[in-house]
Amino acid sequence: MKTIAMVSQKGGAGKTTIAVHLAVCAELAGHRAAIIDVDPQASALEWYHRRQADTPEVIRATPEQLSSLLDQARKNGANVVLIDTAPHSERGALVAAGLADQVLIPCRPAAFDVAAIGTTLGLLRLSGTIDRAAIVLNAVPPRGAQVEEAAKGLSALAKVVPVRLAQRAAYAYAVNDGRSVEEFEPHGKAAEEIRALYRWIMAS
Ligand SMILES: Nc1ncnc2c1ncn2[C@@H]1O[C@H](COP(=O)(O)OP(=O)(O)O)[C@@H](O)[C@H]1O
Ligand SMILES: [Mg+2]
Repeated sequence: MKTIAMVSQKGGAGKTTIAVHLAVCAELAGHRAAIIDVDPQASALEWYHRRQADTPEVIRATPEQLSSLLDQARKNGANVVLIDTAPHSERGALVAAGLADQVLIPCRPAAFDVAAIGTTLGLLRLSGTIDRAAIVLNAVPPRGAQVEEAAKGLSALAKVVPVRLAQRAAYAYAVNDGRSVEEFEPHGKAAEEIRALYRWIMAS
């Protein structure tokens, strides 16, 4: 079972968006996926309630319940588990990162987001989980030198995923009705990006 924690102390970076997309991608690839939502705002759970399909299952949890829920998921035959965490909650982020095989830190290529990532990286460094973490650039605008600058700056701080997710309306539309871009627009560019991100994660 592969466990991936979505962590970023900044809200709106794309944690929930990427978590639900990777979980659906895993299901479409024939795996059993689940999302454990430790964000009290429960956005992933809300997505699940808007969803028509029963899978991937979304389970709400406190950070304290995380370890036993992962054991249970393993026993139930889950292959991929996404942990979606809350911004501004050090405890949730630390527990999730400590239990995960991989930590994804979504970051928008904008000055405020790049500046704020130090808090998240500091947390992971302190807890000794930085080695399993990688930054994924999300909501990347179609053009602009700012993106390359952000990528360069971030790569000096931590590992950066070679796959980037663009700013695309499809992500918001799909999530609005409980789907993923792969279900909303299977041959669209967003679907391609998500599959590429998923492949990178599964291979690393
Ligand atoms: N790649 C993207 N393109 C367009 N909109 C995006 C993208 N990623 C996230 N969003 C939008 O940004 C907002 C915040 O994303 P969300 O996943 O909820 O962030 P977080 O969970 O980190 O707080 C949501 O409205 C979402 O639809
Ligand atoms: Mg969220």
